[in-house]
Amino acid sequence: MTEQAQTPEGEIPAKPTSASRTTLSHIMTGSDTNLLGTVHGGVIMKLVDDAAGAVAGRHSGGPAVTASMDEMVFLEPVRVGDLVHVRAQVNWTGRSSMEVGVRVMAERWNESTPAQQVGSAYLVFAAVDEAGRPRQVPQVVPETERDKRRYQEAQIRRTHRLARRRAIKELREQRAADGIDD
Ligand SMILES: CC(C)(COP(=O)(O)OP(=O)(O)OC[C@H]1O[C@@H](n2cnc3c(N)ncnc32)[C@H](O)[C@@H]1OP(=O)(O)O)[C@@H](O)C(=O)NCCC(=O)NCCS
Repeated sequence: MTEQAQTPEGEIPAKPTSASRTTLSHIMTGSDTNLLGTVHGGVIMKLVDDAAGAVAGRHSGGPAVTASMDEMVFLEPVRVGDLVHVRAQVNWTGRSSMEVGVRVMAERWNESTPAQQVGSAYLVFAAVDEAGRPRQVPQVVPETERDKRRYQEAQIRRTHRLARRRAIKELREQRAADGIDD
């Protein structure tokens, strides 16, 4: 099912960041607006998930599902007539998961002014097999100094995500053990 060849030892060859880096571009129209007349945050989040999903699929060589999206930041409002560019790359890989970093840029569709950053997000995707079970992904090889910084920062976020999940699980188990029913 996956396009990624296995080595004789069963290890999947690593892939450089640039092999799956992708940009998705879209012009915002009247159907993308919220009640204030600017672009709905959910429209941007869908583009972010689409771009990140394409990157995760390309890197892992098969299907990948969104496990989490965090630190979605909206820096500036996006307007009708903005050409939005959603740039995504694999920042970090685990055994079956990948952190994808996304940067959202916007420029007027008919002007030659430089694009401005309007948002960013980090998503974790899990590569899955036909049965939806997590499958191993190729390790990502950061190429530039910026890729290396993003890899290191992604490791920090991974550590914090795991610690937060563990702490909340322990708290809930403790409350249940104490007979607290909420
Ligand atoms: C994501 C999913 C495959 C994880 O399955 P699971 O049985 O919990 O498997 P695991 O615990 O082995 O997790 C697989 C990997 O995902 C990571 N992961 C799972 N949940 C995560 C979360 N909430 N945040 C970050 N990473 C997560 C794990 O750390 C693990 O990474 P690793 O293999 O690199 O160490 C499963 O929860 C799922 O299918 N979720 C629905 C996904 C979906 O439909 N998304 C679209 C939403 S509409």
